[in-house]
Amino acid sequence: MNDRELLRIAKEASLNAYVPYSGFPVGAALECDDGTVYTGCNVENAAYGDTICAERCAVVKAVSEGHRSFSRIAIYGEGQGYCMPCGSCRQVLSEFSPDMEVLCAKAGGSYVSYPLTRLMPYKFNF
Ligand code: THU
Repeated sequence: MNDRELLRIAKEASLNAYVPYSGFPVGAALECDDGTVYTGCNVENAAYGDTICAERCAVVKAVSEGHRSFSRIAIYGEGQGYCMPCGSCRQVLSEFSPDMEVLCAKAGGSYVSYPLTRLMPYKFNF
């Protein structure tokens, strides 16, 4: 699957976002090493801190189904800037696949791509 196809899946996943507070839907498409793709969207809560980001939604779905090794994640948000993963999502992604590729798209569909090692060079570990 090429980058564009993975980004299209991420955009489609954003349609399921539950965002009554921010009004900012985010979608993610997480590609596992074996080619399986898990989607995620942000799920907000009246207790704002309990909100789940699209990326972590996808990771939790994948890991709970037995997948722990990822090659790429596409993230789509209908904003003016590229939809970059937040710090918590970077930490969680790097727990499983620090060398994966991160595709970040914005409204209109253009995107940037970074190795996760560049976005999260010093993750927490013990
Ligand atoms: N959000 C994500 O889904 N992923 C991120 O990496 C950053 C932020 C969501 C959380 C919230 O629902 C909305 O974007 C605005 O912060």
